[in-house]
This record gives sequence, structure tokens and C-alpha cells, in this order.
Amino acid sequence: MDIGTGDGRFVYQSARLEPSKFFIGIDANPKALEKISEKIYRKPAKGGLPNVLFLQAAVENLPVELNGVADEIHIHFPWGSLLRAVATGELEVLSHLRRICAPDCLLEIVVGLDPERDRTEIERLGLPALSNEYLETVLIQRYRAAGFEVLEKGALSQADWSHLETSWARKLGGNEDREVVYLVARATSSELSIDSSLATNPTGL
Ligand SMILES: C[S@@+](CC[C@H](N)C(=O)[O-])C[C@H]1O[C@@H](n2cnc3c(N)ncnc32)[C@H](O)[C@@H]1O
Repeated sequence: MDIGTGDGRFVYQSARLEPSKFFIGIDANPKALEKISEKIYRKPAKGGLPNVLFLQAAVENLPVELNGVADEIHIHFPWGSLLRAVATGELEVLSHLRRICAPDCLLEIVVGLDPERDRTEIERLGLPALSNEYLETVLIQRYRAAGFEVLEKGALSQADWSHLETSWARKLGGNEDREVVYLVARATSSELSIDSSLATNPTGL
């Protein structure tokens, strides 16, 4: 599942590479998804893909039908309220992410901020500097409280993040000043609160 999927590029490319897996792209803003949502329903020879679904939803309001469904959740280059939620560890939003997790679901978050160019947004959202100390002393505990054990974290070099198959990675690829931080976490069993009917038929698809 790719949340804040933007134009859906990551989902589309992943689905092409791994036809035996099902991919869901979710964004609060449907505008950038118009083209790709039409494309996936074409014939396979014309770019159609049967293993993709795009949904319009905010992370704060994910449909309950997604509960317990995700084996992996990706959030790349979030912005706005999604950025604030993952960078400050807002418990309510993290618990929405947690409820859509299947057991042992992996959560990968990549945040990229340029302290100068993004100053207005950083101030508007009240974001802290994503230093290693902040990640270790604050953020990891908040993720743990929401039912995620952080397995890996740190800074990514431009060489590491610029090859990510997302449109924002491509757009930002030339900017070496951007500080890109990643985090990989696994859903822990303690917070598992999946509706049993959804657990037996998680997708309903
Ligand atoms: C900078 S774009 C990144 C898009 C894509 N992940 C990429 O890397 O190309 C950030 C996306 O987050 C979405 N977004 C912001 N707040 C959101 C929220 N609360 N729930 C879901 N999506 C949100 C925006 O609509 C936007 O498409």
C-alpha cells in the first residue's frame, strides 16, 4: 500500500514488476491519479494492470475495508498533514496505519526536506529537525506506542533516494541540499485489533 501516492508511479511500476502481488495507491487528492486510474483498466498490451487499485482517501480517514490488509505500507516524500503525522509521530494517524496492517506488516517512510526551500512548510507544520537524536529519543517511542517497532532508520544519500520509483524522487533528484531520512518499522502484535470478520476475508476484493 502506498499512502500519499501522488500520481501513482511507485504503485504502477511495482505492480508491473511483481504481477503476483496486489498494490493499492491511496491519496487524499484524486487529481494526480486521474490519468493512471484510467490507464490500469486498459488492455494489458496498452498498459493495463489487473493487480492495482487506486483510492481517494486521507490517511486520517482510511476505509475500514482496508483493516488488516497491508503486508507493506510505503509513504514517500509526504507533504502537508501526512508529513506532519509521520514526522512528529501523531498517535491517531499512526493508529490508522496500524489498523490496516496484516501481521508483521512492514512500514517504510521516506521524508525529504530542504531546510531552506521548505522553510515555510516546515514552520507551518511545526516540524522538528529530523536529527538522529530526535528519531531515537522521541519518534521511535511514538511509533512503538502505536504498535510499530522501528527496525532501521537514518539518512539516505542522494544516490540512495534518487533512484526511488516515485515522481517526487525524480522531481527532487537534482537537489543535493535535501535532507532525506528513512525509517522502516514492523507492526508488532501487541496493538493488533483487527475486526475478526475482516481478518478472515481481509480484502473483500
Ligand atoms: C510530495 S507528494 C509525493 C507523492 C508520491 N509519494 C511521490 O513520491 O511522488 C505528497 C502527497 O501526499 C498527499 N497527502 C498529503 N496529505 C495527505 C493525507 N492526509 N492523506 C493522504 N495523502 C496525503 C498529497 O496529496 C500528495 O499527493
